[in-house]
Amino acid sequence: MTDTFLQEQWYAAALSNEVTAEAPFARTVCGEDIVFFRSPAGDLRALEDRCAHRYAPLSLGAVEDGRLRCQYHGMLFDHTGQCVEVPGQDTAPEAARIKSYSAAESDGWVWVWIGRGVPRPVSDIPSLPYFDSGEWSGFQKYFHVKGAAQLFVDNLLDLSHLAFTHKESIGSASSKDAAPEMEFTVEGNMVRGRRYIYGVEPGPFIAGWGGFTGLIDRCSDYIWRPPSVMEIESKFMDATKKITVKVINPITPETETTSHFWMGWARDFRLDEDDLTEQAVVENTQVIMEDVEMIEAQQKVITARGELKPIPIQADRALMAVRTILKRLHEENNRQAAE
Ligand code: FES
Ligand SMILES: [Fe+2]
Repeated sequence: MTDTFLQEQWYAAALSNEVTAEAPFARTVCGEDIVFFRSPAGDLRALEDRCAHRYAPLSLGAVEDGRLRCQYHGMLFDHTGQCVEVPGQDTAPEAARIKSYSAAESDGWVWVWIGRGVPRPVSDIPSLPYFDSGEWSGFQKYFHVKGAAQLFVDNLLDLSHLAFTHKESIGSASSKDAAPEMEFTVEGNMVRGRRYIYGVEPGPFIAGWGGFTGLIDRCSDYIWRPPSVMEIESKFMDATKKITVKVINPITPETETTSHFWMGWARDFRLDEDDLTEQAVVENTQVIMEDVEMIEAQQKVITARGELKPIPIQADRALMAVRTILKRLHEENNRQAAE
């Protein structure tokens, strides 16, 4: 049987500052209900969000010295998922054990390993180190989306939607923006692509960021990595200046029809202007909500009608390449599971 979600992967689960030693943090990742917390020293803990006793969500409970106490009858679980205390009893049943997950932290995100096998090294998590450096300035923000994660990946791989979905924000209504020059390559399990346009209106937000008054050239390089992490570096330039924006989007399935989406946005210009960061949060939220609105509407149609047979156009070539890689990875997992 094919797993609904690609297994044997690190998935982004939370922003680092959402997971604390004080209170549990619940999140459903790939259909699995997980509760995150920390030890007093800050080490990450991730457990199944379901008490072994009578299934109360442990995220309703309390973190006690790096362990988690169920709010219903007070059983205490350690970081391995073993119950170590039952109030009113001398010993805890050995069978009172829940699943624990491997969790790791990287560049402001908490990641969780979804799979049956040994987690790949943490160094395998995409490095996205742009939010805490002297050369970049930006923000990270979470969005819940009532649409499948793959619909958002499709959206980001197909930048031809900029001219339509984002014509009021980061795209221009120019016919050039609708027909940019695009190229992509497949490198192992990664898809890398480029979209460039010369002599185009910048769109209102980009004009504001760079102080552009006329036409600009724009070039976007993107990388997609499994399971669903997008990295886009965009350069906007005219004859006198060039600005660069990096956008990082980890996307994680919550259920088959809902997902978690993060916007990481970093710029290499006007670094000390906190006002610009605040403005960028507002503007990028608008951009993302333009996508979210479209994706949620698309999901409604798919849910109501079932996925019909999409008709690919040229702009979908990268998206098809990604689907081919995902299919291969699913097949590899299935083969290993069957061995
Ligand atoms: S349901 Fe958790 S202790 Fe009873
Ligand atoms: Fe978009």
